[in-house]
Amino acid sequence: MITSESLVNQSFRHTDNTLACDGVSIGSIVESVATPVYIYSARAIRDAYRAIDEAFASYPHAIHYALKANSTLAIVRLLRAIGSRADANSGGEIQVARRAGFASSDIVFTGVGKTREELESAIADGIGTINAESPGELDRIAAIASAHGREARVALRVNPDIDAKSHPNISTGLRINKFGVPLQDARAIYRERRDTRGLRFVGVHVHIGSQITTIEPLRRAAETLVSLALELRADGFSLEHVDLGGGLGIAYEGRPIIHPSDYAQAVIPELKRIGIPVVLEPGRAVVGHAGALVARVVDVKRFPDGRQFAVLDAGMGELIRPALYGSYHQIVPVAPRPGADRSWDIVGPICESSDVFAKERMMPALEVNDLVAILDAGAYGSVMASNYNRHLLPAEVMVDEGKWTTIRRRQTLDDVLALES
Ligand code: LLP
Repeated sequence: MITSESLVNQSFRHTDNTLACDGVSIGSIVESVATPVYIYSARAIRDAYRAIDEAFASYPHAIHYALKANSTLAIVRLLRAIGSRADANSGGEIQVARRAGFASSDIVFTGVGKTREELESAIADGIGTINAESPGELDRIAAIASAHGREARVALRVNPDIDAKSHPNISTGLRINKFGVPLQDARAIYRERRDTRGLRFVGVHVHIGSQITTIEPLRRAAETLVSLALELRADGFSLEHVDLGGGLGIAYEGRPIIHPSDYAQAVIPELKRIGIPVVLEPGRAVVGHAGALVARVVDVKRFPDGRQFAVLDAGMGELIRPALYGSYHQIVPVAPRPGADRSWDIVGPICESSDVFAKERMMPALEVNDLVAILDAGAYGSVMASNYNRHLLPAEVMVDEGKWTTIRRRQTLDDVLALES
């Protein structure tokens, strides 16, 4: 049963004034693995996956978890174990999915700029579907597949010129974006290649953006794609699925937003017009709430105008979303100090003015050595981390049924320098 409670972060909670992940004390994890560290709740990942699966229970569907949101092996394995399939955006993500145990046939390969090498190995491996981004890419796929005496299963990604009403940097369905082919060209591209050797058209694909928090753009994208699929059916194509991509937003500010069941209710009537299975590619909605980045306060600075900075040992190198998109993450002290909230600028250690997690955020008192947790960092957190300023990639920990394990050890300087001469 999914309640509106389950729409917001439930895994990271204070009990007796100390933060725990599903009952496991964050302080005790940090004692042995140090900071910064990503901590994930396995339960939250399972619950979020199931919420989407249950929302679509009345319609044939396949959930292809988008590895780009978080591709740490243990997380990808967990999703496979509960029945997910995979959406990979590069040869690297395909290999991670394979190592996590996914069959090639359970992987969709999406993404702009697939290289010849990536296409060759995807085709040789019999990848489930390649979501092609352009007529040129379709032709390259056809050439590779026919040279190997194979037939590649393909869908074309269309750009429906729909405003996802999300952040401009993560909107992908507008004409000005680099993604897909213009909707009005799509039918002709399919028809011209109907008999091309090496291609088997199995679907149609759309993905209009990420962190979408209103239903209407998602419904319109589904409506548009289904209409195209119906035209293609009339042209004699026997499509096997309609791929709606990902994009479902999560409640970063703690207030419930659209739920997977709102999404399902909006798109299922559209899907019923064609009746073939739907493929979903959710990333953020599966792992976003499940992870927190835990960091330590290394300095506190007070300026004469009253501004207070808490400088953490984690910054844009570990979690770039605030610096890149101005995105909001809740930040909570692991052990909140008593007293009234004050205004804080929570910043990282990197030599960039954009290395800021929060400006003028009302929070309890902070002192050097205090721990803070940056919540809802499970998606597009660790995957976007870098070694800027020679910071080392953080450790990652998974909490499951009252126990925690390190699922990725902290990088060492030797790991980094091993690549250099
Ligand atoms: N399918 C395709 C083709 C995509 O491009 C994406 C995300 C997804 C599925 C998964 O979307 P999701 O369900 O996670 O919204 N780094 C940004 C988000 C970039 C999303 C890129 N594409 C962020 O931190 O907000």
